[in-house]
Amino acid sequence: MKKLIPLFTLIIAFQIYSRADEGMWIPMYLGEMNEAEMQAMGMRITADDIYNINNASLKDAIMIFGGGCTGEFVSDQGLLLTNHHCGYRSIQKHSSVEHDYLTDGFWAMDKSEELANPGLTVTLLVRMEEVTSKVLDGVNENMTETERKAIVSANIDAIKEEASKDNDYKILIKPFFYGNQYFLFVNEVFKDVRLVGTPPSNIGKFGGDTDNWMWPRHTGDFSVFRVYADKDNNPAEYSEDNVPYVPKKHLSVSTKGAKEGDFTFIFGYPGTTEEYIPSYAVDMKLNAVNPVRIAMRDIRIKIFLDAMENDPETRIQYAAKHAGISNGWKKWIGENRGIKRLKAIEQKQQLESAFADWANSDNTLKEEFGGLLPAFEDAYGKLNPLEAKMAYLAEAGMGAEIIRYARSYGKLIRLCKDKESSDEEISELVGKLKHSAESYFKDYNVDIDKKVFASLMSAYYNSMDKSELPSIIVEMHDKYKGDYQAMTNAVFDKSIFASKEKVNAFLDSYKKSKYKKILKDPAFDIANDLTMYYYKNLLVAEDAYSKSIDSLMRIYMKGQIEMQANKLFYPDANFSLRVAYGNVDGYNPDDAINFNYFTTLSGIMEKENPDIYDYVVEDKLKELYNKKDYGRYGDEDGSLHTCFIATNHTTGGNSGSPVLDADGYLIGINFDRCWEGTMSDIVYDASQCRNISLDIRYCLFIIDKFAGAGHLVDEMTVVE
Ligand code: ARG
Ligand code: GLU
Repeated sequence: MKKLIPLFTLIIAFQIYSRADEGMWIPMYLGEMNEAEMQAMGMRITADDIYNINNASLKDAIMIFGGGCTGEFVSDQGLLLTNHHCGYRSIQKHSSVEHDYLTDGFWAMDKSEELANPGLTVTLLVRMEEVTSKVLDGVNENMTETERKAIVSANIDAIKEEASKDNDYKILIKPFFYGNQYFLFVNEVFKDVRLVGTPPSNIGKFGGDTDNWMWPRHTGDFSVFRVYADKDNNPAEYSEDNVPYVPKKHLSVSTKGAKEGDFTFIFGYPGTTEEYIPSYAVDMKLNAVNPVRIAMRDIRIKIFLDAMENDPETRIQYAAKHAGISNGWKKWIGENRGIKRLKAIEQKQQLESAFADWANSDNTLKEEFGGLLPAFEDAYGKLNPLEAKMAYLAEAGMGAEIIRYARSYGKLIRLCKDKESSDEEISELVGKLKHSAESYFKDYNVDIDKKVFASLMSAYYNSMDKSELPSIIVEMHDKYKGDYQAMTNAVFDKSIFASKEKVNAFLDSYKKSKYKKILKDPAFDIANDLTMYYYKNLLVAEDAYSKSIDSLMRIYMKGQIEMQANKLFYPDANFSLRVAYGNVDGYNPDDAINFNYFTTLSGIMEKENPDIYDYVVEDKLKELYNKKDYGRYGDEDGSLHTCFIATNHTTGGNSGSPVLDADGYLIGINFDRCWEGTMSDIVYDASQCRNISLDIRYCLFIIDKFAGAGHLVDEMTVVE
């Protein structure tokens, strides 16, 4: 085992173990940091069973699914489980009005029916290693931040080069604790990942966006894929000759279920948390950034929903887009509510005043930490208005699809203007653009986009003083005298980017000089002006403040650890593999309300509403319910459990993560958090923060009894 830097060794040695719940821990340090507590809480396996680089361990069954989710192997033939919402885009891409897999579900009855998903990857961790001393080699406390950064980045390059010698692995080095610690990750990326099965949306997304981020929940949020490899079990591009990948380890699935108080742990890839930021940063989120994002998405979501309700084709086209933007929107609303309710700013201020007292208690401390808080106050004071402007630009300026799509043609202009570029390069890019036009327009509805454009442009103009806006927004307003309908018609009539025919005609007869036509396109013009404004007026300044905040955070993090010498610290989530652990537990969200820890199929029948897409219940499911035909998947209480909650600390990226029991068996698939606890990325509250998991028995029941795909369950290792 590698040595921790002295600071951390010290902290670990003097730990007082309290019940964790909060925390996302580094798998390779579970042995020294968490194992005793995990076992005291009920775990019957060892840290070594979870993470071991020499022998197969549970970690070999865990993967990054796509770009931002977790998945887990459940068979020795590369079969994997993740969330329905993680497979959503792939499912949607295979769907049309004729083959509506979103609505009807899809099940490959044998391997030949599994569907390829170009672009979808699965990433496995081969090993990780702490490289703090190598990364910080040559760094000392007297250097400037610029000098420090130069050394750190040169060291990182050298370590990466060394690690990538003689192999095809993907090497990553990530900072932990804001650059007080560094880890190297050696990853293997698989590119042939096929869709095996998905329940219909009225199971996989049951309750839709109404129930999203909420408990009680009844969503069967899972989908099934399979990883393929070449004949030697190595990653390969899609090929008919590929064979199912044989993982070093796959999870055993337990049908015992989760009982109140049971120990559980979650193994996966949490994306981002910011547990150690100062009050100024929380204030910025609460008052400057989240409100802008919420208000601008409100506008788009209303337009999408209205159109989706009235037309089945539009519903398919906009399903993933809508789910994507409404997920963040709802989370920010919950997060702001939680921040206020917990008085997170006041909590942080109390910590800061204790920190100031501590830092001023001694001259050496004062030198290192004394100036931190005023420096934060200053930096956040300047960052605040910039972040709000960035949020407007991203959500309103770039909100209409036509603007983002037009912007993607910037590459073509650059290539054509470059005297060195060859005709082959240009025709290759044109080929790619033709290809992407095909999939872009499959899901594009110009009438929706016109409404979005008109509403967002007008909201953007009205959001702040003219002098603070990008000039194009003001010019457009003045040119059309505030008539946003006229502005919209003019832009969409004149732009080629509103129509598949125009884009295809343009690309079909493409020659080098035609890039000038893009430059004159009104949608491209807006995209380009906004992009320039972003780089020149926002990004440069934002980047400078963010960098200085990063440096301050490194020192503040170190200070917080030194000051709270008895506290066990976990690093903020950074999309690296982590373990969170806790217990199955209900909670009291409000006065006199007590939430049970599990839901059942009866709840689905109670929520049924044939008129609302998200609450439709299939006849087949009703039939199974009426007959109580649950087979071995029913609970001993006679019901079929659908979801359960526990105190594991999770965040975005943990979607699809396995929920394991005391023996390391799979009992659930994580997919969400409860509404009252959505502020846990910033402040954790053990009484309110719960992760929501699909009960694995409901998942198996749907595969076997509902879909008749029992052969997939037979492929798994099921322990009764
Ligand atoms: N809130 C969950 C997460 O952040 C689920 C999102 C997908 N579901 C939805 N209804 N949009 O991933
Ligand atoms: N649904 C989230 C995801 O996409 C997980 C829920 C959360 O943020 O905790 O990862």
